[in-house]
Amino acid sequence: MQIAVDGPAGSGKSTISKMIANQLKFEYIDTGAMYRAITLKSMNQDIRPEEYDKLEQMLHDTDIDFKDGHIYLDGIAVDEAIRENKINQNVSNYAVIKFIRLWMVDIQRKIASNKDVIMDGRDIGSYVLPKAELKFFLTASAEERGKRRYKELTAKGVEIDLAQVIDEIKKRDHIDSTREFAPLKRAEGAIEIDTTFLDIEGVIEAILSYVNR
Ligand code: CDP
Repeated sequence: MQIAVDGPAGSGKSTISKMIANQLKFEYIDTGAMYRAITLKSMNQDIRPEEYDKLEQMLHDTDIDFKDGHIYLDGIAVDEAIRENKINQNVSNYAVIKFIRLWMVDIQRKIASNKDVIMDGRDIGSYVLPKAELKFFLTASAEERGKRRYKELTAKGVEIDLAQVIDEIKKRDHIDSTREFAPLKRAEGAIEIDTTFLDIEGVIEAILSYVNR
């Protein structure tokens, strides 16, 4: 069985997908983490999003893997590094690049081909797994999503103001939803859940009720 969960930044996709995967004993695939890992590697090597040749070269020599709940970039766990705010700020500019997306989608489909999966991202229901049995589209107001991301960042000691976080989230949503290839959008047939006023348990309950049906 395949479950696709899409939605904008901070809509709760990853928290919720991870918990559902645990409950159902499904494999959880965080596709955003993969785009973040590529962004981390590019930035560490000072390769800008417009340097296509260098990026293509880099991909030939890149390995991304999930093991025991961790993401490995070229054999090294990068769970923490990919959540830094500089990655939040730059990831969308790498994620618009078509050859990067095709490279990712190939890996994502391979992982999903032989097990029960819940996969979250922007284009899962619409492009990566169009035949998924269940598709969800999580949303929440930009203010609420900004507050969630702000809490996460300040808990890690990052000094930033809320207005800036909300602004960055809006910018990223704009880039993600207006890109030409596989943009962020609600897939046909996806069940939309507005999480603005729902807690995590509420969203999980709603999703599980569809799964059980
Ligand atoms: O956790 P958050 O919602 O902030 O973002 P994420 O799911 O980790 O995704 C980070 C970024 O990766 C997104 O803003 C997109 O630019 C890109 N992404 C994408 O283009 N397609 C996906 N399937 C997943 C992420």
